[in-house]
Amino acid sequence: MCKSYEKPQVLLIGGGMITEIQILPTLYHLQNTGLIGEISIVALNGPPLRKIAESRTLHNSFPGQSFKPYPDFNKVGDDEVFPDLFKEVLSDAPQRSVAVVAVPDQLHYPMAKEALNCGHHVLAVKPLVLKYTEAVELEKLALDKGLFVGVEYHKRFDDRNLIARGKYRSGELGEFRLGFASLIEPWYYRNSNFQNWCTTENSDMFTYIGCHYVDAVAFITGLLPTEVSIYGVEEPYPNGRMGYLWTDGRVVWENGAVLAALNGMGYPNIAPGGNSQGMTLFCRGENDGALVIHDDQYRGVKHSYTVKGDDEGDSYYNEVSPDYFKLLDMGGKAMTPVGYGHRSVENIIRAAIRTEAAAEGKTGDEALQARRHMIEAIDKEGVIATPANSSYNELVIEAGRMSITSGGRPVMIEYGDNPHVHFRD
Ligand SMILES: NC(=O)c1ccc[n+]([C@@H]2O[C@H](COP(=O)([O-])OP(=O)(O)OC[C@H]3O[C@@H](n4cnc5c(N)ncnc54)[C@H](O)[C@@H]3O)[C@@H](O)[C@H]2O)c1
Repeated sequence: MCKSYEKPQVLLIGGGMITEIQILPTLYHLQNTGLIGEISIVALNGPPLRKIAESRTLHNSFPGQSFKPYPDFNKVGDDEVFPDLFKEVLSDAPQRSVAVVAVPDQLHYPMAKEALNCGHHVLAVKPLVLKYTEAVELEKLALDKGLFVGVEYHKRFDDRNLIARGKYRSGELGEFRLGFASLIEPWYYRNSNFQNWCTTENSDMFTYIGCHYVDAVAFITGLLPTEVSIYGVEEPYPNGRMGYLWTDGRVVWENGAVLAALNGMGYPNIAPGGNSQGMTLFCRGENDGALVIHDDQYRGVKHSYTVKGDDEGDSYYNEVSPDYFKLLDMGGKAMTPVGYGHRSVENIIRAAIRTEAAAEGKTGDEALQARRHMIEAIDKEGVIATPANSSYNELVIEAGRMSITSGGRPVMIEYGDNPHVHFRD
């Protein structure tokens, strides 16, 4: 008889920026609320783990809480690297834990696959993988084993996108025809670990960040992307490696609509927001146009401080976004995370728990079938991105990479029995 499944362990692979500012604070909160058990973090080497373990923000926000570091940064040299340690951590953990894949994009596929083969549910930061066939392989492997895979496209949990989705799906916004979206990350990102992996041979700013708005448009409208062309401007990082640090993309949709996507790594450090972002969609109604405008950068809050922090990007005058991720004092011993970044991670962890709960009281094949039905039901809801309901994103990324590395040539996406991409004739 399956035991009731209340507290999965969480194995977080990757000790970078997204772990520190979004995923770990949410996991600490979920641990406080009794949803998850022990948290482990595996990184390539010790220094990022030490940085997180010593973070003043995390200590002050979640007093007394900690994670198990792999490698133990107190016992290994800072220069030692452990590229395969994640395999040991995954295989030593109790099956049906939740593995969180938060490493550079090109490592998502082998790590998610390893996690599934070790019997764990998976939460992957976006993009799930870089190739459509890899997404399909993970989808099949996960369903075969009755394990849930969720992709952390957190804009899906931004209320404004859920509102637009409801209005669009009920016909109140007509039909999408023309739009533009931009997301420009701060200039100082170039100084970070990005310069070691977000380089021309692996990724680009469209792949890294443009995928959020492509997914948001598909999420709102239900349309599939059919053609992609991306022009990338190459620039050196401080370490001399080259990156496509500015990209201009065009995504054509199955109904002929078109979205322009501008992405970059150059929002001024001294500017007041965390980045520059927003989306405008023009739509066609029966007798008039319809319109969605999301100012995702300025959300109506202005602060001017008497002091300025020492971190890159800190400024006296700030346009604070209360909507992505904030830690608030709502009483109790720890802070409470709020925002769509938090809701997204929580909902994916809850989906893994829902998958397990579906099998409660059942054994063997009956339990497996129950888990599979729950996975298919969550796929169908279409709220959480899964390999089954969002692998158009992998086709867009494949097409985008093909286009950007060939000077912006248009690349078509074919669906049907054998989805694939090819240059437009
Ligand atoms: N808005 C978003 O959705 C968003 C924002 C930031 C990052 N991300 C995604 O999160 C992922 C990580 O980004 P980041 O900003 O945290 O990157 P980062 O460069 O700050 O950190 C990467 C981490 O991966 C670890 N790593 C590398 N190889 C490893 C290995 N073999 N075993 C274990 N750990 C290993 C490194 O130690 C490092 O801690 C990327 O896929 C990125 O696209 C998403």
